[in-house]
Amino acid sequence: MFDSKRVDIEKGDIIDAEIVDFGSNGEGVAKCGVYPIFVPFSVKGDVVRARITWTSKDYAFGEVVEVVQPSEHRVKPVCPYFEKCGGCDLQSVEHSFQLEMKRETVKRALKKVGGLDLDVPTPISLNEWEYRNKLALPFGKNKRSGRVYLGFFEKRSHSVVPMKWCALQGQWAADLIEDIGEWANENALSVYDEQTGRGYLRHAVARMLDTLTLTIVVNSSVQNIEKLALLTQKLDRHFSDYTVFVSNNTKNTNVIMGDNATLVYGEERPQDLGRYQAVVSPLSFLQVNNKVRDAIYDDVCEHIGTDFDGEIVELYSGVGLLTAQIALRLPKSKITAVEIVPSASENANALMRNLAIGNVTNVCADAATFVESIERDNTKRVLILDPPRKGCDERVLAVAKEAGFEKILYVSCNPQTLARDLKTLSSTYTIDYVQPYDMFPQTHHVETVILMTKN
Ligand SMILES: C[S@@+](CC[C@H](N)C(=O)[O-])C[C@H]1O[C@@H](n2cnc3c(N)ncnc32)[C@H](O)[C@@H]1O
Repeated sequence: MFDSKRVDIEKGDIIDAEIVDFGSNGEGVAKCGVYPIFVPFSVKGDVVRARITWTSKDYAFGEVVEVVQPSEHRVKPVCPYFEKCGGCDLQSVEHSFQLEMKRETVKRALKKVGGLDLDVPTPISLNEWEYRNKLALPFGKNKRSGRVYLGFFEKRSHSVVPMKWCALQGQWAADLIEDIGEWANENALSVYDEQTGRGYLRHAVARMLDTLTLTIVVNSSVQNIEKLALLTQKLDRHFSDYTVFVSNNTKNTNVIMGDNATLVYGEERPQDLGRYQAVVSPLSFLQVNNKVRDAIYDDVCEHIGTDFDGEIVELYSGVGLLTAQIALRLPKSKITAVEIVPSASENANALMRNLAIGNVTNVCADAATFVESIERDNTKRVLILDPPRKGCDERVLAVAKEAGFEKILYVSCNPQTLARDLKTLSSTYTIDYVQPYDMFPQTHHVETVILMTKN
């Protein structure tokens, strides 16, 4: 068993240790005295044999060699790619304990980063598997056979491991992976090689709503796709209605999509998005879990109230699904929705037109620039924030404090940046409500809704 007096841990050491806690990225934590050793894919309550892979004076990392005694929270992962693919990190943790880990992660972030000691309830959970409406997979090629496939990047490497299905997506994803693989092989299409910068196919990005939207990302500036007719022949076997886009990405970058997405097959049509039919273009953001998305939007609407008739500023508003829901509930309010991606802002404009909504202005701008135009007067205002993982720009937070909103509703996908931003806002606002949501089951990620009211 692990010797708690031992302080001379070195890379390559093999230790037996009890996993006594978990870290904010879902990894198990063993302790050598107070010295933490983070062990990905171990579960609180396990005793593991672990190899030390990295050390510093404050903490170390290890990898599981063997689970000597499994935790009561450990379950058998359903997916053969688990631990190899970067998609899930908690498949070996029973779901109820995943929720407890997420609850505790939010609570600890608020305390440690935000200095806020708040009660945090268990995340609301509505599904566990096959919840993702989006897939993004790189193309790979077997060096010996020359066979082309879709897969995932192997950990700490840029080689692509083939995959056939994903437990977070439905059967549609397995069908699509098969269709695209056959198309690429039968037409001898080349695969992008980041070392040489040569080769054609980079990624397949798909969104499945009531129909499929497929984007093939290619290392070419030609705005069409090679052998398109042959791709549609394959897709016709599994999909009755779909669109195909091509996105040109010739940059040597980790960013998947290029700056454009050109429709090359089918017709962009409004999709069933719970409350409404809406077009969501490939470059526009959409929450990946439809059910949880709708529950979060309902939650935000309820917290604004049923009779608010002042101004609502919604920053980071995407394609406007939440905006539309608020606008229809509160027809006397005046809403300004701010989104930086042009295609998302255009999708939002189309949605407001289709729903005959007259009390929304969509502004395509950087939130940090837009906030400078907010008046500092006595108008009744509510602020809605739903930023990307990096959280809100400092300028946004500064104006949020100066402008004196009645309420702020903050939807966050990153407890650490949420806590940082709340630390800034909490001198002017009181936090009345915290509710995590299990938007990303089987992964350590968690979404949180916060309501703040002006002191
Ligand atoms: C987490 S998403 C939320 C979108 C929307 N609220 C929803 O529920 O679908 C964040 C959105 O902020 C947009 N965004 C990112 N940086 C931005 C910025 N600096 N200014 C305005 N919008 C930004 C992204 O394009 C994305 O649509």
